Amino acid sequence: MAFLQRSLFSASRNATIVRSRFQTKSLPLVLHSSYSRLASTMVPKLKDPSLFKQDICYVNGEWVKAQSGKTFEVNDPATGKLIGTCPEFDAQDTKKAIDAAEVAFETFRHKTGRERSKLLRKWYDLMVENHDDLTTLITWENGKPLADAKGEVTYAANFFEWFSEEAPRIYGDTIPSSVPGNRVWTIKEPIGVCGLITPWNFPAAMITRKVGPALAVGCTVVCKAPGETPFTALALAELAHRAGIPAGVVNVITALENTPEVGSTLTTDPVVRKISFTGSTPVGKLLMKQCSGTLKKLSLELGGNAPFIVFDDADVDLAVTGAIASKFRSSGQTCVCANRIYVQRGIYDEFAQKFAEQVKNNFRVGNGFEEGVTHGPLIHHRAIDKVEQHVRDAEKKGAKVVVGGHKLEKLGPNFYEPTVITGMTRDMAMASEETFGPVAGLFPFDTEDEVVKLANSTQVGLAGYFFSRDIQRCVRVAEHLEVGMVGINTGLISDPASPFGGVKESGFGREGSLYGIGEYQVTKMVTSGGMGQSLQK
Ligand code: SIN
Repeated sequence: MAFLQRSLFSASRNATIVRSRFQTKSLPLVLHSSYSRLASTMVPKLKDPSLFKQDICYVNGEWVKAQSGKTFEVNDPATGKLIGTCPEFDAQDTKKAIDAAEVAFETFRHKTGRERSKLLRKWYDLMVENHDDLTTLITWENGKPLADAKGEVTYAANFFEWFSEEAPRIYGDTIPSSVPGNRVWTIKEPIGVCGLITPWNFPAAMITRKVGPALAVGCTVVCKAPGETPFTALALAELAHRAGIPAGVVNVITALENTPEVGSTLTTDPVVRKISFTGSTPVGKLLMKQCSGTLKKLSLELGGNAPFIVFDDADVDLAVTGAIASKFRSSGQTCVCANRIYVQRGIYDEFAQKFAEQVKNNFRVGNGFEEGVTHGPLIHHRAIDKVEQHVRDAEKKGAKVVVGGHKLEKLGPNFYEPTVITGMTRDMAMASEETFGPVAGLFPFDTEDEVVKLANSTQVGLAGYFFSRDIQRCVRVAEHLEVGMVGINTGLISDPASPFGGVKESGFGREGSLYGIGEYQVTKMVTSGGMGQSLQK
């Protein structure tokens, strides 16, 4: 990013004068390039500081505090330093947002598709205009490097663009009736007020992927932003306001400790007709139980444990590139990251060597704002603990750590070395649990049947990938994998135009694409009787 002071994080031990877009407590500031010194003094600066909303949430078109006055702290995962504070909303605060969304729905649902389209398009344009600031916020609170954050803002904005193009094209059907004289047609109606609960790993994209289709069809939303990354969500709310989205249509609320209370309010209030949640399978199950009392429509995008299969007949270099992209995107913290990498015995050594070389030579871990950094910190210490536990478990059971394998404590408490492990076996934790971190375990296999069984031997099924040049195998394996999404000869499958979602305990419902639209609609059938047959001559 142009605004970054290029030498800011350079490896040089020399002092550097900072004249960048980072605000510091006292300028001009002489910074030493040692990490801790930088970490303690630097605050990213936004081009438009009014996008940074502290202590307020967006409800009914206004910026409001929690009625209790309580706030929680949000810390930079790279430095551990305080970024700012956000309101700790409770059940009553949440209810106000639900009520606002209910009132707004009565008007918003009757806007034409073209009107809703224009609003979404305006919001998209504002995201593009404020691309740099949204990028900065994502890197700051999530830790992902600037290049990744930049990619996320584009990805996120594209959901608004895509759904703005769908909004005027919400069609029903005409159905030939089996009863003489009857006419049957359907109307696609917005389901109503939607509760959206989003995760920290994509602070912008997981919001726009839900809000985009909801608004496109005429729903109104209460979006619970993640406690770890609320500032991006609040900046998006500010842009919604500037885009002229009517009051109450989009409400963005925050909570950390009160998250269960807010979740339970959203899932039990009869006004809320739909819940869309992205997060872990246990929380998804809990929300589903809570929704049962009022029978809400649900979309659950839950945990994955993606198999990534490389067959002997694959283009090995392409497979290595795909595996790097899939495994290490956002430092392994996406639901669709490769979690179990199965490599057929004939090319195992070649693949392992090329893959390990790339991880060893091309990766640089550090603060996401630092030039040249490819991988940032994990989100918090619990994530580090799980990664460490998976690596030590594999090692103890006989696997070999060939790259990395340790915490990077000199960078901060949330950093872990990108890690490659060979000789993985089925009894290791990584074979059955999602690591959600930068660790690639390579499992050898012999036959197609064996690997498909292994790939499917899990309770979840979100994404699955494989590399092969045999067209018949490609069709066969794609059909046999028990997942909601398959990548053939690619490690990247996410696209606003494609239906994203899982099977089994990875949840149900689809996001993005035309299928994503249907999640926010109800199909009303109309039968009109006594219409006669056809014109009699
Ligand atoms: C996720 O991790 O839940 C989303 C990943 C993506 O959209 O690519």
